Amino acid sequence: MAPKKLYIKTYGCQMNVYDSERMAEAMGGEGYETTERPEDADMILLNTCHIREKAAEKVYSELGRYKGLKAARPDLKIGVAGCVAQAEGEEIMRRQPMVDLVVGPQSYHRLPEMEAKVRSGGKALDTDFPEEDKFDHLKGRPKAKRGPTAFLTVQEGCDKFCAFCVVPYTRGAEVSRPAERVLTEARDLVERGVREITLLGQNVNAYHGHDGGLAGLIHALAEVDGLERIRFTTSHPNDMDEALIEAHGTCDKLMPYLHLPVQAGSDKILKRMNRQHTAEQYLRLIERLRAARPDLHLSGDFIVGFPEETEADFQATLDLIEAVEYGSAFSFKYSERPGTPAAERPQVPEDEKDDRLQRLQALLTKQQRSLQDAMVGRDVHVLFEKPGRLPGQMVGKSEYLHAVHVETSGIVPGDLARIRIESSGPNSLKGVMYPL
Ligand code: 5AD
Ligand code: SF4
Repeated sequence: MAPKKLYIKTYGCQMNVYDSERMAEAMGGEGYETTERPEDADMILLNTCHIREKAAEKVYSELGRYKGLKAARPDLKIGVAGCVAQAEGEEIMRRQPMVDLVVGPQSYHRLPEMEAKVRSGGKALDTDFPEEDKFDHLKGRPKAKRGPTAFLTVQEGCDKFCAFCVVPYTRGAEVSRPAERVLTEARDLVERGVREITLLGQNVNAYHGHDGGLAGLIHALAEVDGLERIRFTTSHPNDMDEALIEAHGTCDKLMPYLHLPVQAGSDKILKRMNRQHTAEQYLRLIERLRAARPDLHLSGDFIVGFPEETEADFQATLDLIEAVEYGSAFSFKYSERPGTPAAERPQVPEDEKDDRLQRLQALLTKQQRSLQDAMVGRDVHVLFEKPGRLPGQMVGKSEYLHAVHVETSGIVPGDLARIRIESSGPNSLKGVMYPL
């Protein structure tokens, strides 16, 4: 029998990218191959994001686009997975009756049986937070070769309850996967060609599946032969313990790049966000990290226009950014999320938010560019990932996560090489093999 075809569209964070891979692998066991074209699919699965209003609305407009396909081929099955599935559940089927299946992020191991149910004409909905660990029940990853970088989820959920955020509701309480299982999966990925692993968790540095916490897991992973680079994301400042700070100085395989969101620079706003730390505490933490690893590049997330944010509060965010100097950053206008405490507070007008976002992004872009330009003349190590657009060109990432283009014939994906940076463009660096 010809394999059935699965089209997965992934929205949102890297954890969704990882989950989509795992779902595709689980469905492989049910005779599905993935396709890049929704029109060829027997099943369309949207792996959704609920973090901001726009992200959630995108799902409904995307579903609308499949109406014609579904009308032409009624046996096409349509599923919604991810955080919108978790947050809205049955409401999705009410709004879009053509949806056959709704599955929340903690129930992906039940996807094969849900698929069988919809195949026989039923509807399937599962948004439970089951006791069992979905990863124990998801089929093992197949042995096929893959690219040199991979995500690996080690922790899920969040107990922090920042006042703006839906994650504690959509992903549930913090859960860590046991270190042994993470190590087995990492070894397996390395056998399949992976050289760099990014450990994922909504609050990854609160990981407790190893006696030594996340630092313990990183040191254990560093022992895996063939694994050259380790990264992790996303971290909360309050869970950056001494061992993890130290690891940045002592573990060669841990890359000098850290995503450490602060969200805002005003203590009043940080308090109302329920972040549980001040701007000063964050800055002291950065100092300790830089003492452990002086060349550390920092990345952050920022929200502008949080309820009751004044111009002076916003200025405090700009001041904090000036003090830190970020190598990269993500910034958002505050988006009201139903059910979160901040949604009940007095809102900042939309045009104010637009104006602040523009000013914030101008500063962040300037910093990003100046740190990137400062790489010119320096040597970096690049893990090559794929051919570039020009013939004979390869692209990879430096330890600081800058994209680096090199014109060379002797390099294949998965190679690590020392590269001298010669120029800096809008989004990437260009370099030559070293020694020349
Ligand atoms: N509005 C805007 N941005 C948000 N984020 C989370 N919730 C919201 C919201 N309601 C941002 C935070 C977080 C990132 C993943 O998304 O900056 O760190
Ligand atoms: Fe959301 Fe991160 Fe705050 Fe948790 S720590 S509530 S995931 S922003």
